[in-house]
Amino acid sequence: MGIFKLIKNIFKRSKSGSNPQIVIGIPGIDAQHHEFFQKCDAILDYLRKDSASANVVSKFFNEVIELLKNHFFTEENLFEIIGFPRAEEHKAEHANFMDQILRQEAILNNSENAETVYFINTFREAFLSHIVVFDKPYTNHIEKLVALGKKFKITTLKAQTLTK
Ligand SMILES: [Fe+2]
Ligand SMILES: [Fe+2]
Repeated sequence: MGIFKLIKNIFKRSKSGSNPQIVIGIPGIDAQHHEFFQKCDAILDYLRKDSASANVVSKFFNEVIELLKNHFFTEENLFEIIGFPRAEEHKAEHANFMDQILRQEAILNNSENAETVYFINTFREAFLSHIVVFDKPYTNHIEKLVALGKKFKITTLKAQTLTK
């Protein structure tokens, strides 16, 4: 789905059954958020039931890091298109987020299961707060622009489109 269609769909709410607090109303972005929570919940279930295998945990981190890189890239491209005034502040939050997960991943390689669970839970909560505090304002910005009849140059989207 292209960016123009996503923006046109701004008022369409997700039916995925996800926590309404975290639904921002852009299906491509909501899908990426949803995937992050699904991955966290799956690994937390796994860590509760079995003795952790380092391979499974490391696979989880690789996948989540990839997912976040892609997601942050998608949002940051969107900021350019919509001329989001708080883009720099938001990008700094993304960088900080990525830094935290990369540092923790290295530390957790040799740590106890409980520490991994604690970190993933903390990280999951931090991502939820990020959506509410940082992501929702850019959707408000888009809604204002749409209300003003603003059109967006879809050709400025550089790489990945919001396809998920
Ligand atoms: Fe986000
Ligand atoms: Fe964000």
